Amino acid sequence: MQKDDKMKVLVTGGAGYIGSHVVRQLGEAGHDIVVIDNLSTGHEWAITYGRLEKGDLADVDFIDRVFSKENFEAVLHFAANIVVPESVSNPLKYYGNNTRNTLNLLTMIQKHKIPYLVFSSTAAVYGMPDVKEIAEDTPLNPINPYGASKMMSERMIQDLAFATGLNYTILRYFNVAGADLKSRIGQATPEATHLIKVACECVQGIRSGMKVFGTDYATRDGTCIRDYIHVDDLASAHIAALDHMKKGGGSNIFNCGYGRGFTVKEVIETVKRLSGKDFPVEETVRRDGDPDALTARNERIRTTLGWTPQYDNLDTIVKSALDWEAEWQRRKSV
Ligand code: UFG
Repeated sequence: MQKDDKMKVLVTGGAGYIGSHVVRQLGEAGHDIVVIDNLSTGHEWAITYGRLEKGDLADVDFIDRVFSKENFEAVLHFAANIVVPESVSNPLKYYGNNTRNTLNLLTMIQKHKIPYLVFSSTAAVYGMPDVKEIAEDTPLNPINPYGASKMMSERMIQDLAFATGLNYTILRYFNVAGADLKSRIGQATPEATHLIKVACECVQGIRSGMKVFGTDYATRDGTCIRDYIHVDDLASAHIAALDHMKKGGGSNIFNCGYGRGFTVKEVIETVKRLSGKDFPVEETVRRDGDPDALTARNERIRTTLGWTPQYDNLDTIVKSALDWEAEWQRRKSV
């Protein structure tokens, strides 16, 4: 990267799972990084480049102070709650921390005239679309408050961009999984609910077993299909998005997935095969808010950003998650 390609960037949620992988790649590319994180689910050790401003996006004065001190050229906005069933039982937590806090951040982006924004959105904005592969122009129809909270944020960003000339890239993540291949960082969220993380905790003996939520979905084995994408491939999409905007590429929305899906049962079998460990798996009723199948069409990000995944392999994803889980348990025990 050329020297003048270096940017001063704000990363909200940079101590979290996905944010920390992006911070590492931004740091390696030479960008100057400030992280805002309230450390509610993230960890300070996970910020491997740049510096932390500890605080909450609900606190507008705090955000204003950070923006006033620094001359940011770009904002990458990860900070959010992300657990689908929790959003069903506690919707206002999601409309507060996700939608309202995005409004707070956008207010500062407008006030301080920040030209570039990368926003973490989600496949959950599509709801339960009636198509085999989801394209970016598939109508948005979220079936849970989490997806709705992100859809509303997307809309605010687009409206602000129309009014001010802000350049944005909205990245709609499918199921992010795996960890840094060197196990320097990984998912360390307390009480994680995500499938691969939960299965890896079973391997480590942190949990005595796990559940399969629903075996009567309209899929090949009755369990939900998801498009699992390695977190470092997702991270590289953010770097490519920033580069593209900086070169004048304008605003875009991209799906981030590999375009193929695995069932819950296939994922659990892969974890058992690669770890060589068996653990109890109970088949139980459906979980609230789960669509049958979500797989991405990803031609747009491939052609527009030249994004080429490097880890499109379930074994690679699961192996990195298993390695990280072993490392994380080792760190916690010393
Ligand atoms: N599942 C189980 N048992 C578990 C955990 C999960 O059967 O212990 C199942 C779920 O019911 C679902 C699938 O595994 O069918 C994947 O569930 P996750 O909780 O891992 O992920 P979600 O699909 O609910 O959600 C994730 C992100 C969202 C994103 C979505 C997009 O959390 O941000 O992927 O596909 F929107």
